[in-house]
Amino acid sequence: MAQVAREMVQKAGIDIDKLLDMLVRNAAAELTTYYYYTILRVNLIGLEGEGLKEITEDARIEDRNHFEALVPRIYELGGKLPGDMKAFHDISACPPASLPSDPTNIKTMLNVLVKAERCAVNGYTSICNYTAGKDHRTYDLSLAILHEEIEHEAWFAEFLGEGPSGHFRRSGTGTERNSPYVSKFLHT
Ligand SMILES: [Fe+2]
Repeated sequence: MAQVAREMVQKAGIDIDKLLDMLVRNAAAELTTYYYYTILRVNLIGLEGEGLKEITEDARIEDRNHFEALVPRIYELGGKLPGDMKAFHDISACPPASLPSDPTNIKTMLNVLVKAERCAVNGYTSICNYTAGKDHRTYDLSLAILHEEIEHEAWFAEFLGEGPSGHFRRSGTGTERNSPYVSKFLHT
């Protein structure tokens, strides 16, 4: 735990227990979404499915990175992850992005993906609103994650025909490719 860092956040008026609850629930949403997106990605087959596979993979890897970036901040603030993974799953801030009954129906797959991203955008917007000007490190981290979640939402919404996202695709390969905003928090 970073004692002084925690005290500074408290002095700024942040309820640490409330903040930790937000961070742990969103960390659970990241890890569970990473798991469910693995199943969704495997089932994106055929002409339409293949077209979605690359952006789904980028979103999947970045959600894993989001989990990895949140964990040190949770412990710095004196928090911890639940000892039981089932309990962790069930406190997730977002509902499971479960595989639809008909995975060949690309519209239903897209709706699962875009719904998950919109839940994440809501979650990190709330954390940013709560920490802005008070907990600079959590704010900076949450804003970086929010950038990536908004891009994920824009990508999937574009496939639903909700309008252009303005994006093309992530550039580069391997570890360089993902998390253009969050990667600075992935060195610990
Ligand atoms: Fe995420």
